[in-house]
Parts: sequence; structure tokens; C-alpha cells
Amino acid sequence: MDQALPVKVIIFDAYGTLFDVYSISQVAEEIFPGHGERLAELWRDRQIDYTRIRTLSDQYRDFWLITVDALNYACARLGLDLNDDRRAQLLDQYGRLSAFPENIQTLQTLRARGFRLGILTNGNRTMIDQNIQSAQMTGLFDHVQSVEKVGKFKTAPQAYQLGPDAFDLPSANILFVSSNNWDICGAGWFGYHTFWVNRASLPPEQLGIGPNGQGADLTSVVSYLDALRTD
Ligand code: LAC
Repeated sequence: MDQALPVKVIIFDAYGTLFDVYSISQVAEEIFPGHGERLAELWRDRQIDYTRIRTLSDQYRDFWLITVDALNYACARLGLDLNDDRRAQLLDQYGRLSAFPENIQTLQTLRARGFRLGILTNGNRTMIDQNIQSAQMTGLFDHVQSVEKVGKFKTAPQAYQLGPDAFDLPSANILFVSSNNWDICGAGWFGYHTFWVNRASLPPEQLGIGPNGQGADLTSVVSYLDALRTD
């Protein structure tokens, strides 16, 4: 690997970045026809809202329980009848997520080029281990870090600190990759080199900080690092 390249390690966010969460809205649509997309969106928004409220008020609860709380809220809000079977069916999708099509090959390419890889996620360890297995990504990561270790969710600095601690490297030498632009802003403020995978062609958040690089899917991380090397 080129010694001059500042990036030695790549850390990935999990949901929406490595693991495709689309199947959740598909199942939501099968259970509640006409409401799947709205339910999946409200569920995801509340899930992230609850991580922030709980972190701000120092009321940590693990991500799996927050995911259940957010689902209960989203269904109540939309007036959808969530019985135990339906709840179990929807939550079960979290254990069955697949990789985005280009991801495994891309991760293998990055490893072959000498980068060490990691995950830093809001998800708790049990969830994330199940997802790695279901997406057939076992053995691709040197470190898998869950914020449950610090009891605070991203974008708390204590959560981002898990990356440099695990790899024993300054954050400036770590590329942080996420499909969530808010996560990219938090990681950038913390001091990581950042790359936004903007799969949905969304506008950037208005938070006064942008990513160092961006692209439409995970393969663009490889071309970004190639360009960085030749700069
Ligand atoms: C995660 C969520 C934010 O994996 O996607 O941390």
C-alpha cells in the first residue's frame, strides 16, 4: 500500500450502508398494503430520533429495544393494527438483511489492497453479528464496534472514539463510510476522513460540513481511494 496515502483503515456504518434495509418496507407493504413505504420511513426516523433523545438525556437503551419502541410508535401514529404476529414478522426482517449487491466484492477488493476494515454501528452486538452472518460478510472485518460499549449513540464523540481506539490510529487516518449524511457530518466533526455513499441521490444535510468524498454506491469508495493515491 502507498505509504503516502493518509487512509489506512476503512470503517463502515451498518444499516443502509452495508446492509440493505429495503426488504423491511417490502414486508411492511405486504402486511399493511398501501402503507409500507410510509411505515418504514416513520419507523426508521423514530428509531434515529430515539437514539438522539436518549443520548442527549443519558438514557441509553439498546438499539434493538429502541427499534421495537419505534415500530410500536410508527404503527400507532399511522393507525395500523400491529398484533404480536405482525410485530414479529417485521422485526424478523432485521435478522435477514442482505448485502447490497456490490458490497462483498468491494470489501474483498479493499482488503486485497491492504486496507484494514471495521464496522462502527448504533446496532447492538447481537444484532450486528446476526446481520454479518445473514449478509455473508463473516471474516471481512478486523474490528466490529457497537456503541453499546459506551452507552451513547452516534453522533456522540464517545461513540466515534471507538474507531481510533480499536485500530490504534488517529481518526484522520481512518476513512469513515456511511450512507447517512448526518452520520458523515458527525464523523467529520469528530475528525475522520469521510465518504458519503449517497445511494438515494439525496441533498446534503445543512449542517455546515460536507464529506471529503461521495459516490452512488460502495464501489465508488475504491475509485475515491485510487484518486487519493494519485493526487
Ligand atoms: C448504524 C445506523 C445509524 O448502523 O445505520 O449505526
